[in-house]
Amino acid sequence: MIRTHSVTPFKDQKPGTSGLRKKVPVFQTPGYTEAFIQSVFDSLDGFRGKTLVIGGDGRFYNREVIQTAIAMAAANGFGRVLVGQGGILSTPAASHLIRKSGAFGGLILSASHNPGGPTEDFGIKYNIGNGGPAPEQITEAIYARSQVIDRYLIAEGDPVNLDSLGTFERAGMTVEVIDPVSDYAALMETLFDFDAIRDLIKGGFRVTFDAMHAVTGPYATEILVNRLGVDPASVLNATPLEDFGGHHPDPNLVHAKHLLDLMMGPDAPDFGAASDGDGDRNLIIGRGIFVTPSDSLALLAANAHLAPGYKDGLKGVARSMPTSGAADRVAEKLGIEMHETPTGWKFFGNLLDAGRCTICGEESAGTGSDHVREKDGLWAVLLWLNILAVRKQSVMEIVEKHWAEYGRTYYSRHDYEAIDTDKANGLMAAIEGKLDSLAGTRQGALTVEKADSFTYHDPVDGSVSRNQGLRIFFEGGSRLVFRLSGTGTSGATLRVYMERHEPDPARHGQETQAALAPVIAAAQALAGIREWTGRDAPTVIT
Ligand code: G6P
Ligand code: ZN
Repeated sequence: MIRTHSVTPFKDQKPGTSGLRKKVPVFQTPGYTEAFIQSVFDSLDGFRGKTLVIGGDGRFYNREVIQTAIAMAAANGFGRVLVGQGGILSTPAASHLIRKSGAFGGLILSASHNPGGPTEDFGIKYNIGNGGPAPEQITEAIYARSQVIDRYLIAEGDPVNLDSLGTFERAGMTVEVIDPVSDYAALMETLFDFDAIRDLIKGGFRVTFDAMHAVTGPYATEILVNRLGVDPASVLNATPLEDFGGHHPDPNLVHAKHLLDLMMGPDAPDFGAASDGDGDRNLIIGRGIFVTPSDSLALLAANAHLAPGYKDGLKGVARSMPTSGAADRVAEKLGIEMHETPTGWKFFGNLLDAGRCTICGEESAGTGSDHVREKDGLWAVLLWLNILAVRKQSVMEIVEKHWAEYGRTYYSRHDYEAIDTDKANGLMAAIEGKLDSLAGTRQGALTVEKADSFTYHDPVDGSVSRNQGLRIFFEGGSRLVFRLSGTGTSGATLRVYMERHEPDPARHGQETQAALAPVIAAAQALAGIREWTGRDAPTVIT
């Protein structure tokens, strides 16, 4: 029986960089989750009888929202729902499943790397039939709909048993509970030389992977342990927990500090990696060396042809604007297209669909390729392992050789989290107000060459996205970017991105913050961060 419930619009259902993210109690407000899901369905056309993929990262409230989404999909006329066992699907696995099953789209329930639990974060994101996040036209339509919505539809009945594999019926709709790992693992086997990686590991190469009590636990166990022979004791925090064990499942140098310490310590394994809450981010650390995401993108682009899935070379490379220019130098050398997009994986979708790029990446620890339409944490780990297996060199050697060839791009991001929204907007507006008059001015020890607010012109569909971050280019090639995060759930987060290219190999051994000191000083001189935020130091430095 299908029921229509009336609802009054919630004013705050504007999707951010990656779907709607709020605290769990907000999603628990009566009608809130339903109103958003109905707004998604109301913004789509032609899904009657078609398939919807539903899965999440297993965080607190995942199971409840999955039941709601199934009941609403049935009431709205979907023909079939595919859902991961236990409600689990990593974001890249969901993307693959949407593509493989020819689904109309999918709902991915996650707040990515944000903490989970009764008072922590939750999120809902809609992905389209290509497996990627809905483009801005759709997220804007969803928001517009959410502002006027007056009812939602839900099928009454018993919840689906998410724990047993099989096919069930829910109000005339088929629900298939599927193994969340097997299709994804099979896809990885088509891209990488598992025999070579297995031999590497059999030969004593030690790998440590930290699943951070998040969704990649079962994937890493199946792929790294069962198929590649990694010691099970080296897959850390492999059991997904609703609250990620009370931690931030964010694979950065702050929240995965234990991994960094291990990799810098006397008994470091050869290769350390971690992934985030929903499995799309990656952290790569070699023995004694952290590989920045921007460098990792460049290195993967330069070496991808060593893996079977990319042996014919790359069609192009894409990176988000705040990501460093290290990959640009690789694309230039390879003679392939390079695209600079706004922050957010959704902007890569058109380029990937049009065959304009094969590998993409972001400074926010995301790398991926045209195998799915999301970034993919374990994919990055496996591509690294494949490259290491072929080159038979350490991570450090590979990175240093790369720098010697292309130059080193020192890179860092300073985050000021949970600052007052008005102050954050004020700071950005103040910089924006003087952008046009910055060229030629001194900021600390640097001279501004040019400055602008980044606008993206999508070369595939012609759409234009404005206000995607403020860029300041300095004479000598350093760059500074200011942006407000679109993924936070409390207050505002100011992100300050800094980079400096150093061609001289004799100067590649500097400490990153020291190498960037002039750019850091210019950021303070230009933006008055301390005065606006009242903070002496960033919350997180990556
Ligand atoms: C998510 C998105 C990424 C984005 C990142 C940071 O992980 O999928 O595409 O780069 O958030 O976004 P933010 O707006 O917080 O800087
Ligand atoms: Zn994520």
